[in-house]
Amino acid sequence: MEFRTDRLLHGGDYNPEQWLDRPDILEKDIEMLKEAGCNAVSLGIFSWSTLEPEEGVFHFEWLEEIIDRLYANGISTILATPSGARPKWLAEKYPEVLRVDESRHRNLFGGRHNHCYTSPVYREKVALINRKLSERFGKHPGVILWHISNEYGGECHCPLCQDAFRGWLRERYQTIDRLNKCWNTTFWSHTYQSFDQVESPSRRGERELHGLNLDWKRFVTERTADFIRHEVEAIRAGGSTLPVTANLMYYFEQLDYFRLAKELDIVSWDNYPIWHKKELIETAYDAGMCHDLMRSLKRKPFFQMESCPSATNWQGVSKLKRPGVLFAQSMQVIAHGGEGALYFQIRQSQGASEKFHGAVIDHYGGTDTRVFREVSEVGAALKSLSELAGSTVNSKVAMLYDWNSQWAMNDSRGPRNDGLHYHEVLLKIYRAFRRRAVDVDLIDMEQELSGYRVLVLPMAYMFKAGFAEKVRAFVENGGVLITTYWSGIADDTDLCYLGGTPYGLMDVLGVRSTEIDGLFDWEKNRFVPVDGNALGLSKEYDCRYLCDLVELRGATPVMTYGSDFYEGYAALTVNRYGEGSAWYVAADADREFYADFIARVLQQNGIEGAVADEIPEGLEITTREKDGVRYYLYQNFGTQPVQIPLPQGAVEAVFGDPQKALKPCGLVVLKGGCK
Ligand code: GAL
Repeated sequence: MEFRTDRLLHGGDYNPEQWLDRPDILEKDIEMLKEAGCNAVSLGIFSWSTLEPEEGVFHFEWLEEIIDRLYANGISTILATPSGARPKWLAEKYPEVLRVDESRHRNLFGGRHNHCYTSPVYREKVALINRKLSERFGKHPGVILWHISNEYGGECHCPLCQDAFRGWLRERYQTIDRLNKCWNTTFWSHTYQSFDQVESPSRRGERELHGLNLDWKRFVTERTADFIRHEVEAIRAGGSTLPVTANLMYYFEQLDYFRLAKELDIVSWDNYPIWHKKELIETAYDAGMCHDLMRSLKRKPFFQMESCPSATNWQGVSKLKRPGVLFAQSMQVIAHGGEGALYFQIRQSQGASEKFHGAVIDHYGGTDTRVFREVSEVGAALKSLSELAGSTVNSKVAMLYDWNSQWAMNDSRGPRNDGLHYHEVLLKIYRAFRRRAVDVDLIDMEQELSGYRVLVLPMAYMFKAGFAEKVRAFVENGGVLITTYWSGIADDTDLCYLGGTPYGLMDVLGVRSTEIDGLFDWEKNRFVPVDGNALGLSKEYDCRYLCDLVELRGATPVMTYGSDFYEGYAALTVNRYGEGSAWYVAADADREFYADFIARVLQQNGIEGAVADEIPEGLEITTREKDGVRYYLYQNFGTQPVQIPLPQGAVEAVFGDPQKALKPCGLVVLKGGCK
């Protein structure tokens, strides 16, 4: 099911069940929503106890009335399934629905996301209410999309989940001997005689078998995906054919979102950047990369399901967004290929733990607030950008974002338990492309590589079977590969490759990694340019944390280390392979290195960004395409107005004035023909 919209969505989570005794407020809310230019709300996310106050007794009339009224006022509903939090009666009557933690204790009732994904009772109760919601609302013209549960996360170690885990392992390994081999269980005498003996990892028990830890994480993702599928099947059984989404989270480590996205028709995510802790542009790159990840999960448009219109109440310090920042944050979603910006939440709750969380309508309840005015500005801008709906980002650069490698690297002991800085490394590389106005996709090992010109593999620790061959073919056919240290180290059961690494790519890269040096936090080494190097690099750059020592097997050194016993060893190399080239970055080099290195690699390969040169610091430029039209979105995350560099060829303005200096937090959108 495709999610298609001819407008950009604007609205947010709305909890009318908290205000059913205040019809005056509910009525006023609709007027205010219209005034703020909202066209969609998410309903029912945590409404189970109002929808089914007693087992088998359903009350949907209040919801229907609200959906009807919203629809009559031009506001669509994104309807949630209520599985994110359960009613007290359910947990009391069927304690098995509550989660068991890794120490094997069952939780008490409370909170949310506190349920077992395996429990047949929980599955039955969720299926029943989902089916009924689908029967009642699945064909309502005001309902446009299903919001499955809320921010899936967490794990359960109950006996039912243990059994399911064993079943999953049986299917994966077939024989216990194979499992023992893949997990290297002879280490510390942890060999299993049968699948029935396997237990989920626990601090009170087994934590040293990295294959077990890794498979448990994969199983948790599979269980969650299976639960989503179960929820969606119930919706389909109720007759609705509407598309489904689930709200994902910021670089959420626990679940492999590439896997989860397969169960969804459109990806959405909850975007809560911590503005004002660093310079705006720093936070903007971080949020922008996450938007790009979310878009890349399905290589399709996505949207922002939640974000705070002012200050959240769960960050260390509840900092207000400075004027204009909400606008910039919302427009950034669109700039990176999003189909709308929604908030948490429309109306602030009066009590309980989110009573001080920012909202479109606060406790005061009027439209004459700064936040309401800024939300309305976003609404007006989204309306005037409607023609961008359905356009896509067409990136020439793909960077690997790999959950499996992160899980395995973070679990392993060495080469640096004091931090591998995976996220920071990706961000440095990402930033270098973005400074050249080059759009970037973040992909996993399964995605198709054709269509990309550059493939970046930062710390691609774990290679899935067949991945090295895929990368080889990419380079052979003319692709540019950039690989860093700590890549191709282990297979996908976390067994280290024998015979040299980066596994399967030593000839493509022309190097073999021999040893890797961990540096203390305060230590540094240097990248020193080789005279007359292929890229014309002439500066020195710092590097830290990890320094890989490579043996050259055909590659040309471009930079070398500047100190220590490995002074003069290659630190950056290039190798021609087939029609393409393969770069190896041996250490965690600094931001300036990546900026210069990537700029030159792009130039050398004739890969152009949206504009010709490096863009002014603070500016973000992204592109979207539709029906032969290319949109250029400029955002200023800097502190000073900037004159924007124009793309080549004729363009016309869709939003803002390209001739005037672009103010901080401002937006200009241009359009021209696709190249
Ligand atoms: C999200 C969650 C919302 C709300 C919000 C507060 O993670 O989905 O229900 O709690 O955080 O920022």
